[in-house]
Amino acid sequence: MTAPSVETIPPGVVTLEDHARHAQTVLDANAWAYFSGGAGDEITVRANRCAWDGLQLYPRVLQPLAGGHTRVKLLGRTLAHPILLAPVAFQRMAHPDGELASAYAAAALGAGMVLSTQSSFAMEKVAAAAGNDCARGPFYFQLYLQYDRAVTLELVRRAEQAGFEALVLTVDAPTHGARDRERRAGFKLPPGVSAVHLAGLAPAPNVALQPGQSALFDGLLAHAPTWDDVAWLQAHTRLPVLLKGILHPADARQAAALGLAGIIVSNHGGRTLDTTPATAAVLPRIKDAVGALPVLVDGGIRRGTDVLKAMALGASAVLIGRPYVYGLANAGAVGVAHVLRLLRDELEIAMALCGCKTLDQASAALLLEGKSTIGIANATDSYL
Ligand code: FNR
Repeated sequence: MTAPSVETIPPGVVTLEDHARHAQTVLDANAWAYFSGGAGDEITVRANRCAWDGLQLYPRVLQPLAGGHTRVKLLGRTLAHPILLAPVAFQRMAHPDGELASAYAAAALGAGMVLSTQSSFAMEKVAAAAGNDCARGPFYFQLYLQYDRAVTLELVRRAEQAGFEALVLTVDAPTHGARDRERRAGFKLPPGVSAVHLAGLAPAPNVALQPGQSALFDGLLAHAPTWDDVAWLQAHTRLPVLLKGILHPADARQAAALGLAGIIVSNHGGRTLDTTPATAAVLPRIKDAVGALPVLVDGGIRRGTDVLKAMALGASAVLIGRPYVYGLANAGAVGVAHVLRLLRDELEIAMALCGCKTLDQASAALLLEGKSTIGIANATDSYL
């Protein structure tokens, strides 16, 4: 692909939160409501942040640090660092280069990327933007199972063909959360932005509702996926499948029993069900439930210290959602690259100051036991 437009980072933007604040001045109210909003009272959005803030790093001093690095292993590959871009829909609404810019930046920074089913650019174009340099991070396709299995299968075949390395099946959003900010803003997709992979998809056949039946349960959710569909997907693809949106150890165990390649502990960034536990709070019990199975985590990760805490709790890697979309809004591919660079630099600094030379040394011993209240007072003011 031709390189995306080169833009510059706005002065004074030196953290992910700075990117968020600046993005609010760049995005219109419609797009801001969509990208920043969460479900209900946004209690889970805040809880995700509070939970990372509430963990205290417990540093060791005078440790040998020469030769330290951020490399990790994930699904048979060695990655330069454990940071991936989470699937986020409709990125053209943040910047005309949309997902192409995100892929370009991820590849340049050795970060992984998970492309949303609801991408506003076709997966083949995004794959071309990511290229196939061996230093590129892992490149996965996020799948929402469609009611029509033939449509789902076609997406899977296209992803296989385009060189995606794994499928990430999102299971925590059989229906939209109640996103009040979007409703208040009267959110609409602007002209020229659409879920291109789903273009022309006929709506699910209308079930004739009987009096007293629910439009949600007896209508939309009559076609919602179940565990049987997960097994069906595994049987129909040669790609490894990860499940995204797991919070409960019983679900994690079921995923492990099905032979899935990994689990992403996620509450969709607080956009689906409000008042769920924070991801940092449940990560240890999920890890305990599945042993060696790779467990990734997202939700509220805004600092290198958050990444290190996630690794100390047993994560194999982390994903960020809103922060890179804000970088995209602020400065296109350069903005996404800046967000990734900031986070990785902060991770290295945190590791060095904790006396942790490599991420396989990051264990629960890096965290002080018990809950602290650091940051909780401030978290409600956060944009993130
Ligand atoms: C998302 N997320 C999401 N997840 C998914 O599986 N498919 C999708 O299409 C989307 N779309 C989407 C849009 C927007 C605007 C946001 C903010 C999020 C959820 C995303 O992958 C991830 O789980 C969260 O964004 C992580 O939380 P943070 O980093 O945004 O706090």
